[in-house]
Amino acid sequence: MPRVFVCRRLPQSALDMLFQAFGEQAVAVYPEDRAIPRAALLENVGGSEALLPILTERIDAEVMDAAGPQLRIIANYAVGYDNIDVPAATARRIPVTNTPGVLTETTADLAWTLLMAAARRAGEGERYLRAGRWESWAPMLLLGHDVHGKTLGIFGMGRIGQAVARRAAAFQMRILYTDSQRLDPTLEQQLAATYVEKNILLAESDFISVHCPLTPETRHAFAEPEFRAMKTSAVLVNTARGPIVDEAALARALKSGEIFAAGLDVFEQEPRVHPALLECDNAVLIPHLGSATMETRARMAEIAATNIIARLTGQSPPNCVNPQVLDY
Ligand code: DGY
Repeated sequence: MPRVFVCRRLPQSALDMLFQAFGEQAVAVYPEDRAIPRAALLENVGGSEALLPILTERIDAEVMDAAGPQLRIIANYAVGYDNIDVPAATARRIPVTNTPGVLTETTADLAWTLLMAAARRAGEGERYLRAGRWESWAPMLLLGHDVHGKTLGIFGMGRIGQAVARRAAAFQMRILYTDSQRLDPTLEQQLAATYVEKNILLAESDFISVHCPLTPETRHAFAEPEFRAMKTSAVLVNTARGPIVDEAALARALKSGEIFAAGLDVFEQEPRVHPALLECDNAVLIPHLGSATMETRARMAEIAATNIIARLTGQSPPNCVNPQVLDY
């Protein structure tokens, strides 16, 4: 019986770590290159001591019970862990781990990719060119907005928000941020970031980049009232979690000109994208690629494997999000 169940094929370096630690027979990897269907997940987890899910899997009490009482760790292959029912895991004294740190800079790079692409209409421009519509250089062709010297609003100033802010210095931007917790003054100073309430962030930012976790409080943190409060020239970027933005309301705001553009890497019901957003030429839409570089995806997988190896060999997994269960 495999001790470790991996829900989707991962970079080989991490699988090798698990094979070396437990032997190949002890590691089962869902063999198909698609998200594991719920029924197959429930069927395959039985008897596992460790689960390695990715963010497409909802790991709730039903899955934990299907795995059985010997389940000793859930090592998520993501920094976000809203796909895991952490209270249910804690109630069963199962540590849940994530992959913080390694994807910070990579995701910040992608937030900037979207910000620039949306501001300068790169997606529209590419579609226009490929469609053979480009007849000549023109003074008014596909005009966007300057990025340099503008105001960047960061919604959620954790590791990734801070990495986005650091990049803004090169563009001589004014940086505002809002978060449930204020940064310590030294860090605020280093980042040249000013803490403001959400209403100020909305009113004064030319660009807003979302970097908070998805929680009941942040679900639809960007909806009709927020878009109404933003500048008509504003660009919204979301590389955090889809449900933080109300997609239907965003599509209306984009179509009516309430805001200028959006760059989205994440969606409310991935992989489904709201049909109204697909109609918006001023939305740059990409399929959840925030951490998608070869280097980072390998490091994330290695972190997940490290957490499993630590737990199953009697040590504390380094990236536990519910460390209270380790006291038992
Ligand atoms: C995460 O890690 O939470 C990202 O969304 C996927 O890399």
